[in-house]
Amino acid sequence: MNTKMMLALAGAAIATFGLARVAADAQAKESNPSHETAPAGPSVARGRYLARIAGCNDCHTPAYAMRGGDVPEATWLTGDALGWQGPWGTTYPANLRLSFTKWTEDEWLDIAKNSQFRPPMPWFALRDMDEDDLRSLYRFVRELGPAGEPAPAYVPPGVTAPGPVVAFPGPPPQP
Ligand code: HEC
Repeated sequence: MNTKMMLALAGAAIATFGLARVAADAQAKESNPSHETAPAGPSVARGRYLARIAGCNDCHTPAYAMRGGDVPEATWLTGDALGWQGPWGTTYPANLRLSFTKWTEDEWLDIAKNSQFRPPMPWFALRDMDEDDLRSLYRFVRELGPAGEPAPAYVPPGVTAPGPVVAFPGPPPQP
């Protein structure tokens, strides 16, 4: 192979790689709408954005984290039968599509600001959210509407949980 041919081949390879990159970026943008930013003020769109980036879907939507978020919105936040087990017993991410139908928007603000749920629910993230974020989450979940079944009931420590669990060790001692 002469130098000219080698250069031509290298050029073709770079061009192909470049095109592949452009295609991959376009696909990533399409399948990853988190490029979207949160609109200002309370809104359904902002709630959707928060459900995606604040981790709510990771636990409250079946298989969301395992499938890289590729789960239809129709099943978002319907709770999960995968148990989270540790010194607190076994907890199940609640079906928020049902929970939110029990509360008015103002009751939700009070619950979010003043409740401590069992691990691994990050209740402190709800406590620290601003009012627009909390109202947006509420409006988004109400817009999705009720769906699915209630999550399995809490199982106390030492009692066998039905179904699969993720087992946590106890928390490390305070530094
Ligand atoms: C690491 C997993 C995890 C993440 C992330 C998570 N949750 Fe939870 N959530 C749980 C579990 C488990 C429970 C059940 C706790 C219990 O039994 O006390 C729960 C309970 C709740 C409840 C109580 C529901 C009821 O009917 O009592 C609300 C409300 C809630 N989560 C909202 C959210 C929101 C909003 C987000 C996102 C900001 C979120 N959670 C993120 C695991 C999680």
